[in-house]
Amino acid sequence: MQIRPRRNRKNEVIRNMIEETYLRPSQLIYPIFLLESHLEKQEIGSMPGIFRMNLSDLMHEIDACIPLGIKSFVLFPAVPDQLKDKTASYGLNASNFYLEAIRLLKERFPSIVLMSDVAMDPYSSDGHDGYVENGLILNDRTLPILADMAVCQAQAGIDIIGPSDMMDGRVGAIRDALDKNGFEDTSIMSYTAKYASAFYGPFREALDSAPKNGDKKTYQMNPANKIEALREAELDTLEGADFLMVKPALCYLDVIHLLKESSVLPIAAYNVSGEYAMLQAACEKGWLSYEKAMPEMLLSIKRAGADVILTYFAKDFAKLYSTI
Ligand code: PBG
Repeated sequence: MQIRPRRNRKNEVIRNMIEETYLRPSQLIYPIFLLESHLEKQEIGSMPGIFRMNLSDLMHEIDACIPLGIKSFVLFPAVPDQLKDKTASYGLNASNFYLEAIRLLKERFPSIVLMSDVAMDPYSSDGHDGYVENGLILNDRTLPILADMAVCQAQAGIDIIGPSDMMDGRVGAIRDALDKNGFEDTSIMSYTAKYASAFYGPFREALDSAPKNGDKKTYQMNPANKIEALREAELDTLEGADFLMVKPALCYLDVIHLLKESSVLPIAAYNVSGEYAMLQAACEKGWLSYEKAMPEMLLSIKRAGADVILTYFAKDFAKLYSTI
């Protein structure tokens, strides 16, 4: 045998020398569930270690994350039911607790990056990402609501707008509205290939945002489809997206890879709540090692082609990273 691949694995220095993929805390975005200020921190049942928290707890959390190298956060509001309505009007109320938190966070931590969620579901009494009429999700009726929501968030100081709704034309509508209002520098990370996935269950529990009727299959993509992701990517690119996202991540590594190969934009992947819950559950039972399986999972997403990963593991990964 002249050729022995094992020679390149014979010790740690050689293995490290030829390592192909790196994952650093700076490439992670940490999702946070935000509560109104008077409410106490609550752990999410299906997501051990992840809490809904109010602004003051969040400030402590950010203080703990910055020295670990986690400086990017995506915020989701947990809106009380009585504030939800058909038009998601609370999302456009300039004094809502979400926009207030963005303003105060940018003041207190000018160097962090904050990303928002743009969709109707956290504020909608129907629990859908778009406007519902007679059981249908009306695309074009939804667009101005999303555009206004994005402008409110930009006014509050958000760095990156995150449209997670999957309406057609929303990236263009949001880009237009931002530019008309003088927010040319506010970025858009589009949820480009967002699948109608079973892995969002714990997130919907966290925000109490599950659809009241029907499912999200008329707007989120069919898990069986990959070519269609190229079509979504092409449109989002033409409409001015700055990043393209694939969501979920682990069951869609092929889609991440495809978009990375076919686009010049940075590719993000959302390692979603169900993926977090799945690993935590196995580790809780002692069936997997958290310290070993968690970084392997994140590395696989990076290796598939993600430049950026949104993940509930962000802080734990950064803690591990700081020890090596
Ligand atoms: C909704 C939204 C969802 C997630 C992010 N934004 C859920 C959904 O589409 O129902 C899921 C994130 C996760 O599961 O971690 N606009």
